[in-house]
Amino acid sequence: MTSAPAIVRVGLLGCGNVGGPLVSLVDERREAIVDGAGVRLDITRVAVRSLTRDRGLDLDDGVLTLDAESVATDPDIDVVVELIGGIEPARELILAALGAGKPVVTGNKELIANHGAELAEAAARAGVDLLFEAAVAGGIPIVRPLRESLAGEDITRVMGIVNGTTNFILTRMTEEGTGYADALAEAQSLGYAERDPTADVEGYDAGAKAAIIASLAFGTRVVAGDVYHEGISGISAHDIASASRLDHVIKLLAVCERLPGADGPEVAVRVHPAMVPAQHPLAGVRDSFNAVFVEGASVGDLMFYGRGAGGGPTASAVLGDLVDAAVNRTKGTAAAVGFGGRARIRPIDEQRSPFYLSLDVEDRPGVLRSIAEVFETHDVSIRSLEQEGIGADARIVLITHVAREADLRATVRDLRGLPTVHEVGSVIRVVASEE
Ligand code: HSE
Repeated sequence: MTSAPAIVRVGLLGCGNVGGPLVSLVDERREAIVDGAGVRLDITRVAVRSLTRDRGLDLDDGVLTLDAESVATDPDIDVVVELIGGIEPARELILAALGAGKPVVTGNKELIANHGAELAEAAARAGVDLLFEAAVAGGIPIVRPLRESLAGEDITRVMGIVNGTTNFILTRMTEEGTGYADALAEAQSLGYAERDPTADVEGYDAGAKAAIIASLAFGTRVVAGDVYHEGISGISAHDIASASRLDHVIKLLAVCERLPGADGPEVAVRVHPAMVPAQHPLAGVRDSFNAVFVEGASVGDLMFYGRGAGGGPTASAVLGDLVDAAVNRTKGTAAAVGFGGRARIRPIDEQRSPFYLSLDVEDRPGVLRSIAEVFETHDVSIRSLEQEGIGADARIVLITHVAREADLRATVRDLRGLPTVHEVGSVIRVVASEE
């Protein structure tokens, strides 16, 4: 005889782009979840900002409410799902729910990237789940693999394409020769980019995701403010063409590394455009897709690929967490979160990578020597160098060996002071296998 499934009453905070698809998905998948996990999910209360907006959802009368606080602490609610976004009131509401002993599922990247440790401590005190798979790379399972499947792995580096908008723009620039402004306008018309695209194109969104990935991968606390970030708005058609000639593609990468430091392990986290070798798995991640590439000492290389945004994929990630939290609730258990202690965050000046540089130069004897001297002065070694164009169009394109950021910056400063260098164009980091 099979026992009746446990009914788990869900309080949903926010019913917008992800909350709406989640309600529909719970309806669609309810019986399959009963069969597979032994819990019956009931969306019991939904806190919204407008009671009159038509959401096209099949919700019973009295489910919608304007009072989010009462949902977070309602004794009749077993699990709270926060999909409001932003820091406040989401933070207060989650703390209230955890304080009332309720597991919480959230997709709130900004909140976890800034207050993840505080919330994890509150969840641990209450002995309940705090799950946030949807906060990084939408529908791609990466939080749980880092937290659970790879808990014993020595992860050395994680590189992610974790912003779909910028990946779409760079793909258009690479494959269609579209200019940056036109590619951005297309991303906006397709609903990928906001009217103010700053958070995506300047790397803030990817930076918050990088902070969460680094925290989980290295069992430490990294917050969004620790992440150095550069965006893609300075990438030119010439850079895209040069990358292609060098058998590379330009991607906006979140790079998280664990490195030996003088006083123990250090963590380096940064977001910037990078030249990725054409044969690297990340180079084939096109359009608005996301991917996270994990390098581990024992497991080797792994790649997680899929849709990093959108209502359906993100709701799928939330639902996976919700089923987990519901099952754990019925068993009286909870997963460990583990933001760990605070490691030294290696300042950007001390981080290292190879660099690509493009210089508009005079085309006459001795120019190369004066340029090479500047590199030598700052201990930056040149790996390859090529002159494109002649006369007034002369341009030197070069790639360095692995160099310190501070040394490279000093090199660029001195190159700008050379009378033979008209302009230092782009400076782009290169993903190298030798790192
Ligand atoms: N705007 C993000 C992207 C999705 O383009 O990937 C939300 O984090």
